[in-house]
Amino acid sequence: MEQTRREKRRAFKQFVQQNAADLPVKERGDLRMISFELDGKLDYELYREIQTLGNKYKLDWQWVPEDHIRLLSGHLLALGLNPKFGLCHGTRQGFEQSWFRDLLPGQPEVIGTEISDTAKFFPHTIQWDFHEVKPEWVGVTDFIYSNSWDHSYDPVKALTAWISCLAPGGAMLLDHARDFMPDQICTLDPCGISEEGLVNLLNTELGDEGRVTEVLDGGKRKLDPIRTIVFQKKIIPN
Ligand SMILES: C[S@@+](CC[C@H](N)C(=O)[O-])C[C@H]1O[C@@H](n2cnc3c(N)ncnc32)[C@H](O)[C@@H]1O
Repeated sequence: MEQTRREKRRAFKQFVQQNAADLPVKERGDLRMISFELDGKLDYELYREIQTLGNKYKLDWQWVPEDHIRLLSGHLLALGLNPKFGLCHGTRQGFEQSWFRDLLPGQPEVIGTEISDTAKFFPHTIQWDFHEVKPEWVGVTDFIYSNSWDHSYDPVKALTAWISCLAPGGAMLLDHARDFMPDQICTLDPCGISEEGLVNLLNTELGDEGRVTEVLDGGKRKLDPIRTIVFQKKIIPN
């Protein structure tokens, strides 16, 4: 019989208590992280199981509202982009990729990645860990959107992978809100950094690939404003 949401939540909490109660917190500048490394080696199975159990008990929750995706779609067009292919990372029910597909002209191909096996229930969604790239995405992705980068076990690895996928001039849109601040981390959302810290990290550690061009005022997550950091990939002249 299918577990109720309460049972799924209990299973998640019990698993975390039994397996991840003592994970260390690491800080680097403004970045604060719960580390999944044991003796210097990533415990990937633990990370994936926590994300999957968390995804299952929150499966009908929706973080980003459609209005915010409408605003970002308009912004992609204002940047002069005419997206044919986009990626959304960490998409749960897959609403953001469906909205981008409807709101952008020409019915672009926009797919979402989701680490949990629940990906199979949602359209335009693949079960995939966003720290990895598919070779066919590299250098051809017109835009990337995520409000799930705070679920990363290694944000520099994830952001490096995402930027490698961008086409020259392509845009990466990263939402930031109160939920992403360093004091909000937990085993399910192990990574926290201020907006300014994330802008600095992108411009310093990933600055060879492009720049943060602006930070947009977006929609709202409940009462909290959403801001979106726009990183554009360099165009290398011939
Ligand atoms: C905060 S939820 C956001 C979901 C959706 N974007 C929204 O607005 O409601 C984060 C989602 O990212 C997924 N996720 C976490 N780590 C991931 C990873 N490494 N690769 C792909 N998806 C991941 C989680 O399972 C969860 O569904």
